[in-house]
Amino acid sequence: MAASTVVNGLTSPNVSNADAGALAEEQCRAAKERAAIDSASRLPALAWLAGATFWLLWASFFGLVTSIKMHIPWFDVRVIMELGIISTLLSVPLMVLIARSKNLSLDAKIGFCTFAFVAAAALWLVLRTWVFDIRWSEHGGAWQTFGRTRMTHLSLIGYGWGTQAGIAGILWLVPRLSRTPLIYPNALIAAAAIWNVGIFAGVIGILAGLGTSVEWLDFPPFVPPFLIVSLAIVAAWGIVTFTRRQESHVYVTLWYCFGAMFWMPWLYTVAVIINIYSPATGVVQSACNWWFAHNVLGLWLTPIGVGAAYYIIPKVIGRPVYSYYLSIIGFWSLALFYSWAGMHHLIGGPIPPWMVSASTVGSMMMFIPVIAVGVNHHMTMLGHMGQLRYSPSLRFVVFGAITYTAVSAQGAIEALREFSEVAHFTNYTVGHAHLGAYGFFTMIMFGVFYYMVPRLTGQEWASSRLIRLHFWLCSVGIVIYFTSLSISGWFEGRQMNNPDYPFIQKMSNELPWLICRSIGGAMMSLGHVAWAILFVLNICGVGSRREGPTFFREKTSAEVEAELNGSTATPAEVALASR
Ligand code: HEM
Ligand code: HEM
Repeated sequence: MAASTVVNGLTSPNVSNADAGALAEEQCRAAKERAAIDSASRLPALAWLAGATFWLLWASFFGLVTSIKMHIPWFDVRVIMELGIISTLLSVPLMVLIARSKNLSLDAKIGFCTFAFVAAAALWLVLRTWVFDIRWSEHGGAWQTFGRTRMTHLSLIGYGWGTQAGIAGILWLVPRLSRTPLIYPNALIAAAAIWNVGIFAGVIGILAGLGTSVEWLDFPPFVPPFLIVSLAIVAAWGIVTFTRRQESHVYVTLWYCFGAMFWMPWLYTVAVIINIYSPATGVVQSACNWWFAHNVLGLWLTPIGVGAAYYIIPKVIGRPVYSYYLSIIGFWSLALFYSWAGMHHLIGGPIPPWMVSASTVGSMMMFIPVIAVGVNHHMTMLGHMGQLRYSPSLRFVVFGAITYTAVSAQGAIEALREFSEVAHFTNYTVGHAHLGAYGFFTMIMFGVFYYMVPRLTGQEWASSRLIRLHFWLCSVGIVIYFTSLSISGWFEGRQMNNPDYPFIQKMSNELPWLICRSIGGAMMSLGHVAWAILFVLNICGVGSRREGPTFFREKTSAEVEAELNGSTATPAEVALASR
């Protein structure tokens, strides 16, 4: 007699009762095993994620300040601090009343509290300007200059947010896919604490003027030991976990996670030695610098982002990755070609031309992994695009995965000498940088966390509206950011290459685009605030207990029925996807 089993929203038609029973038993066992593994990962993964979220807010703050100062040079950071503090003081009593109200839903409470805060800020602006007649000071101090706020932003993005978000994801993904509960949780929590002390010291150091001025290695020389010790703990944990894994099959996500954990500690350690403690001299230093700065993107952030997408997409849609072999080609060609390409950052610089040529070839060869990953993700998603309407994790991850293909194709073109002659030294590069580090990596990590956190805390998200707001603020924000800088950067490059074009005219042409960048960046920053609120509410236990995923909107029964009837997954595929 035939029966149909439903797993992850999919049905496996024509399964005998005996098979269905065995499948259900296996799934029940796997679910219990996963829950035990998740519970062991809970504290370390959340500790790293809390650090990441905290620094993301500060990174956004410094990014926004840097951006605003480019079109309002007299802008003083203390304005924001004063506004923040006074608005909080004025709005808190109102917020307490709103929070206590029994007649309002959680969404309405969050909406009214936000409104109270914004209204308090507006009130204070009016009072201080027209009633008390207080003027803003004209000098913000050296710590507010471009050289310091920009480097603080970049360092916080790279090490405060990016690296910690990546490690949080790894600490959850690796035990799951190795089928081994996380070991040495205290060591990993200590590593998070050491890391964050390092970041804090680094931020103060850069703002105090002690930065090294080496791109992506700006923290003062007393900071790297903290980071190296912490990375060493995480890497050692990775090796021990790999040797203890219970799962004989190495899933594609594991390839990427182990690759990243293997590359980053020695990349960073070697880079610090040859750039900071015993720096190579002359132009060789720039080659050493870009060897690291390039690889930290391609062999650390990129594998984590791509690997995580390889996990989340099949998980959410309940179907295995389209081609295992394609994913292996993607992994090894990334490892092989990305590491050659660092010198494309120095096109036109005083380094031997063969180094630039080799890098350009490496950049072109990157089309191989990029196409392999793009095709694999696309074919896996084929027929399941409808899920994007419901699942926040999937929507963020698919946004990031599509952006990965786009930014890599763009990067390969940027690595051509003729193109670089125009785009280099312009805002075009900054647009590309954000498309990669934000549109691809950051968006994927948000998607991972929407999936991961409820499984760690046992708590669903407090508000699907706030998740939707987060998604739209970030996605529209990055589109505005990228588009405005790409357009302005291209014209900027052409105008700079024309010796007859007045430089001051070029500068004023850029102003409207820089304002657009601040608008896009402000939207992204607000999106980050929404994420931080959701994360804090979740770990504080606000929201429903976890029974099923939080969707943007619930599926109607007709939609569920249509999905069940349309599924083509075999029982083996369903079992694999549910791992
Ligand atoms: C095939 C893939 C890629 C290639 C060939 C590539 C190429 C390039 C090139 C040529 C530049 C230098 C532009 C200039 O200075 O004129 C650049 C900058 C940059 N790229 Fe990519 N890119 C790729 C993918 C990515 C990805 C996936 C990310 C993000 C994870 C990323 C992030 C960045 C960043 C942050 C910079 C600016 C670095 C800085 O100036 O501090 N790129 N890329
Ligand atoms: C997670 C969020 C973000 C990531 C991953 C990120 C990443 C980066 C990266 C990699 C750079 C170096 C680019 C280069 O030198 O080519 C950079 C610089 C910068 N970012 Fe961001 N960023 C983020 C958020 C923001 C926000 C919200 C703003 C606000 C407008 C912003 C404004 C800036 C500015 C003004 C620079 C300096 C550009 C320059 O050197 O001319 N960023 N960011």
